[in-house]
Amino acid sequence: MIRKKLIAGNWKMNKSAGDGATLVKDIVDEIGRETSVEVVVCPPFTALESVAKALEGQAVKLGAQNFHHEKSGAYTGEISAEMLRALYVTHVILGHSERRTYFGETDAFINKKVITALASQLKPILCVGETLAEREAGSTLSVVQTQLEGGLKGVALDQITTVVIAYEPVWAIGTGKVATTAQAQEVHAFIRDLLTKLYGAPLAQKVRILYGGSMKPSNAAELLAEKDIDGGLIGGASLEAKSFVELVKAAAAAN
Ligand code: PGA
Repeated sequence: MIRKKLIAGNWKMNKSAGDGATLVKDIVDEIGRETSVEVVVCPPFTALESVAKALEGQAVKLGAQNFHHEKSGAYTGEISAEMLRALYVTHVILGHSERRTYFGETDAFINKKVITALASQLKPILCVGETLAEREAGSTLSVVQTQLEGGLKGVALDQITTVVIAYEPVWAIGTGKVATTAQAQEVHAFIRDLLTKLYGAPLAQKVRILYGGSMKPSNAAELLAEKDIDGGLIGGASLEAKSFVELVKAAAAAN
């Protein structure tokens, strides 16, 4: 198995510190020390500490949904990599389409965070994906290429396998409209080809490319069976233990 499947839960702006701890307890009770799949949960900042405590001694890892690339200083409302590391955070979602759309994050800004994350022992989960208008205009692949090349600028050969890519078609996020397996696989293969051009085949083969956008237990097996789909970045279905655990099990079965 060249790439271990990865299931990451993006809780977005949901779950208090208490509710988050309860949710992860329910998850670990069900999956135990499942090690054939890498599992990451990404609560909001305010639940990181309680969730970290609930995960002590467990294989499930902790991710954040964002951070600021500066070390410290006058950045009201922001959180640094060091602050996340102090809470045992290992992963961070970067470039999510909601941050691009609602908070104006550009590829250049996202790239600064990718570089800082890697220098701070945080594994970036770099999100890319086209809007419905872009897909209908036939520009899906060029949009994904621009976001990927922009986000990965300056990422060295010895760093690329630490990066996780998440392909999330914006039109499929939270809409219930999942990409067909063929649509998803086409873009995943394109991303793998781009990584091959940038970093060479042996490294590109090791990078995990997750699918995100209305992934749920009913469609996961089919998506995860595709050759270049190495896991999922899960929004809605990560908010309940039952559906999230089923997704982890689907990933284990697809290994
Ligand atoms: P969804 O969200 O699973 O609710 O579509 C995925 C995401 O935004 O990461």
